[in-house]
Amino acid sequence: MKISVLGAGGWGTTLSILLHSNENDVILWEFNPEYAKTLTDYRENFYYLPKIKIPKEIQITNDLVKAVTDRELIVIATPTQYIRDSFKELEDFDFKDTIILNVSKGIEIGTLKLVNEIIADVLKKVNADKISCLSGPSHAEEVSRKIPTVVVCANPDIEIAKMIQATFSNDYFRVYTSTDVAGVELGGALKNVIAIAAGITDGAGFGDNTKAALMTRGINEIMRLGLKLGAQKETFFGLSGIGDLIVTCSSKHSRNRFVGEEIGKGKKLKEVLADMKMVAEGVSTAKSIHQLSEKLKIEMPICEQVYQILFNDKDPIQATNELMVRALKEES
Ligand SMILES: NC(=O)c1ccc[n+]([C@@H]2O[C@H](COP(=O)([O-])OP(=O)(O)OC[C@H]3O[C@@H](n4cnc5c(N)ncnc54)[C@H](O)[C@@H]3O)[C@@H](O)[C@H]2O)c1
Repeated sequence: MKISVLGAGGWGTTLSILLHSNENDVILWEFNPEYAKTLTDYRENFYYLPKIKIPKEIQITNDLVKAVTDRELIVIATPTQYIRDSFKELEDFDFKDTIILNVSKGIEIGTLKLVNEIIADVLKKVNADKISCLSGPSHAEEVSRKIPTVVVCANPDIEIAKMIQATFSNDYFRVYTSTDVAGVELGGALKNVIAIAAGITDGAGFGDNTKAALMTRGINEIMRLGLKLGAQKETFFGLSGIGDLIVTCSSKHSRNRFVGEEIGKGKKLKEVLADMKMVAEGVSTAKSIHQLSEKLKIEMPICEQVYQILFNDKDPIQATNELMVRALKEES
């Protein structure tokens, strides 16, 4: 297939290499012209995916129109908060029957939209039925080293999901299908906020009990919001739900868990972010979730405490204590 990947961060670069090795014709778009040149010259993504060779057959470009012209599949791997601005110039571009696949994980601040909704807003001539997503426990650092990984892709039309499944799957990357786009995207976006909470408990010196509690009560919280937004309950027990939550809360690769850990050790959010080149989507998602849970009147105690710690300087120990002494209730 003729495929373009929009976004040359760690994930976009990894998926470009995977799609190329699955014998597709791949273009990789990078928003920064100088960095696009660096990637072309050195064939290595020093900032976001060091020590992994980018095959010379992958075309790297900063020209967005060139990147989307005459493509069968377009993969969007640009951090959520940049999507709207980055793709404005494609507002009137006629995508015809091109399939659009979101692999980013977040909720837009202000509009409170999921990525598939941002895409439908911005790319006016995309066929909305063709907007799909792919998510699950999949750190770029591991997929790029061909470590066995299993994810899920979703489109309301199962035939499109199957086509994406066949395009991405190989002996180290196995893709399941789903028709629940909202559920798959929500799990991927929200687990990043719970991962910040998990990191905070690591940094504050709490133990395995605390983290297991956060993960199980966290998926409960994610599901409560998901059901309200029309997602299917089973999706949250799958790869994009509990699967991604487990990896993000426990992995050394997770930037969101890392952000939490530094804050748990006493650093301020600004200091932590100033030292990071890579995006930690959970920080902006925490803001969106704070607004969304208020708007929909859904109780999301863990996400709310993360928001208060990140943006209102709340003491993590006090936040944990408040979670522990909430009114007692039934588990489900
Ligand atoms: N890295 C992973 O393992 C992984 C896995 C699954 C999903 N994701 C998701 O994929 C998305 C991309 O993450 P990543 O890890 O590839 O990012 P990254 O942190 O590796 O790279 C950041 C990217 O953002 C781009 N960027 C910076 N400022 C920009 C701007 N103003 N406008 C447009 N682009 C800008 C950079 O050029 C770079 O491509 C995120 O939503 C992330 O949650 C990442």
